[in-house]
Amino acid sequence: MRKVTIEDFDLKGKRVFMRVDFNVPLKEGKVQDDTRIRAALPSIKYALEKGAKLILASHLGRPKGKVSEKLRMAPVAQRLSSLLNKEVKTTSDCIGEEVKTVVNNLKEGEVVLLENVRFHPEEEADDADFSKQLASLADIYINDAFGTSHRAHASTCGIASLLPSGVGFLMKKEVEYFSKALEAPERPFLTILGGAKVSDKIGVITNLLDKVDSLIIGGAMAYTFLKVQGINVGNSLVEEEKKVEAEKILKKITEKQIKLVLPIDHIIVQEIPACCEAGRKEGAETKQTQDAIIPDGWKGVDIGEKTIAAAKILIKEAKTIVWNGPMGIFEMENSSKGTKEIAQAIAESSAVSIVGGGDSVSAVEKFNLKGKFSHISTGGGASLEFLEGRELPGVTAIPIRPR
Ligand code: 3PG
Repeated sequence: MRKVTIEDFDLKGKRVFMRVDFNVPLKEGKVQDDTRIRAALPSIKYALEKGAKLILASHLGRPKGKVSEKLRMAPVAQRLSSLLNKEVKTTSDCIGEEVKTVVNNLKEGEVVLLENVRFHPEEEADDADFSKQLASLADIYINDAFGTSHRAHASTCGIASLLPSGVGFLMKKEVEYFSKALEAPERPFLTILGGAKVSDKIGVITNLLDKVDSLIIGGAMAYTFLKVQGINVGNSLVEEEKKVEAEKILKKITEKQIKLVLPIDHIIVQEIPACCEAGRKEGAETKQTQDAIIPDGWKGVDIGEKTIAAAKILIKEAKTIVWNGPMGIFEMENSSKGTKEIAQAIAESSAVSIVGGGDSVSAVEKFNLKGKFSHISTGGGASLEFLEGRELPGVTAIPIRPR
């Protein structure tokens, strides 16, 4: 990566403002999943070992520019403190006199986690004065918040132009994995896309059509493609207004001779139970179809056995795999097999494997496959935007390293 990195600075005795993405799920005031906190530990530990006075900042949730008691950073500080086995100081705001005092009293190797930056509307507005106030706390700015790098906010962008800036280890790793996959993948390069909506993934597919050798499309988004091919998909989710784009995509796939697996059979239900929408495990009664046709009155909820088998062939041949989006409603036991088997097949393959997107990462966790992929991204929206070929403002804001 040609950006300035944390390793390019002498951090000793310096006040280092590190933007992290600690936007983690909370339950009853406790951190439910600390993956993102753990992912930032290499940069945090490095800075502390090098004698920095470390100022961490993050958003948590979407408080819409107001203080929300439920979205205070205290539970995150607690979890970080136990992971570091070290005191993590907290402040009641992210700017102002109290913050300045705490920061000025920090000793080398000490760390403070500032209060939620989104309690100020100026954060999301990338306000110049707010950026200045954040920058005034520090000597160096490090952005390690890959998950928030698609947001042009004060703590991800504005501040970077005001201080000597670099990326942290997590940001570097994320960008390098995605860039390598998109720019110089080992071939065959396979992308597996799923999830509910074609509209969420059109940008990704369009950008990847010039890069991939093979494509697997599953999840509810596949039904729109099948409908375009004239296949009856019963009462399955179809985005009528995306059919024209889906048709164009299918045409290009054929022109470019990309190997494509679309569902050739399904797991179907008559009604998706409300319990499943709420993410509970109880399932509805399901049926396996013999082919791609879904009878009227039925909805597809997962890919079937034949589709799994066809997908596995592409997974086996691939040398680079990017996976984004589940193959079905994996939260429901009866329709989890497609996602599980695809996840297992990727985990067993020797390809460079990258998993991005909140739902596929949850699936990896559910099926206990963490650690079996080359890279599991901490970015949901950010990884999608990267795959769409869009510029990530948080990355762009960091200067290129001079040669
Ligand atoms: C995320 O969870 O994807 C990031 O933290 C960004 O959060 P946002 O979508 O609220 O900006």
